Amino acid sequence: MNQRFVIPATVAIKLPPAAPTVTLSNTEREELVARIKRLLTQRDAVLVAHYYVDEDLQRLAEETGGCVSDSLEMARFGNEHPARTLVVAGVRFMGETAKILNPEKRVLMPTLEAECSLDLGCPADQFIPFCDANSDRTVVVYSNTSAEVKARADWVVTSSIAVTLINHLKARGEKILWAPDKHLGTYLQHLTGADMLLWNAACVVHDEFKGHALAALKRQHPDAAVIAHPESPTAVLQLADVIGSTSQLIKAAKELPNKKLIVATDRGIFYKMQQTAPNKLLMEAPTAGEGATCESCAHCPWMAMNALRNLAQTLDTGANEVHVDEAVRVKALRATQRMLDFARSLKERKPLGD
Ligand code: 13P
Ligand code: SF4
Repeated sequence: MNQRFVIPATVAIKLPPAAPTVTLSNTEREELVARIKRLLTQRDAVLVAHYYVDEDLQRLAEETGGCVSDSLEMARFGNEHPARTLVVAGVRFMGETAKILNPEKRVLMPTLEAECSLDLGCPADQFIPFCDANSDRTVVVYSNTSAEVKARADWVVTSSIAVTLINHLKARGEKILWAPDKHLGTYLQHLTGADMLLWNAACVVHDEFKGHALAALKRQHPDAAVIAHPESPTAVLQLADVIGSTSQLIKAAKELPNKKLIVATDRGIFYKMQQTAPNKLLMEAPTAGEGATCESCAHCPWMAMNALRNLAQTLDTGANEVHVDEAVRVKALRATQRMLDFARSLKERKPLGD
């Protein structure tokens, strides 16, 4: 098995300033929620939220017939929902994916400044020549990338179906160029034995989980199961009982017999996880320990930019509309639609197409 990191992470990732702590009174919160609900109906809009955003937004999505989910389901839901406006509470690549799949719909976001370190760590002007220099490889990119990067890819994939897709490509004898997450890439390579050339970027949130500190916490709680997102470092994944996408981790929290769970992913997930598994004790995996900086402290600084106030403002004014250059969109659609078709074929257990 070859593991090769050819491109160092040349892009220095700058985290945004910490989102100001806005404490809303109950009355303010209720007024904002009522206003957003009214505007969603008036604008023929539906709210599509990720598990890492503020729980007020997750609750609103649930109460208004929207969705709270992992990135694959967000894309699928937005694509199949009849509303003319999709309001995506998450990070930019999620809004762009919605636009790539639904050019006829208006896609709004509470802020257009919510980035992702994986997207930032894989600029198209470096990635495209890298693909050209390795043209014998099938280019598989994680959904956490820009529309321009998706436009150069053969496949887009999310963590919920990545293992199945890589196994599928390996069975067809294809060599893979994987970008951008090195931890997820390493995990996929070890699990499948596929020939993968890896881009070298990481998620600033998951990269901070520490294997040593996690081992110590496990010793204190030998009855706890560890559940981890595959964007976490190898030392963390080696200690995990379950590795999966955000939706898969929520399912595992419910189904595992353990009463205690150590969770190695963004703590925004605790709202939905605790709702799904109410009698479980959920503990955050440690970001402390040797070499720790705790810059994000298990919460994505860009997801944290989504809030009730900017959501209401966006719906009110129509600001923060997501636009994707049409030529780029058409190219990016190919690999993105392929992901949805592949996911559907898995659900329907049809033979896997190409
Ligand atoms: P999921 O597809 O598992 O929701 O992951 C998206 C993400 O950005 C995790 O950091
Ligand atoms: Fe990107 Fe990490 Fe934030 Fe997910 S948690 S959006 S991978 S920076």
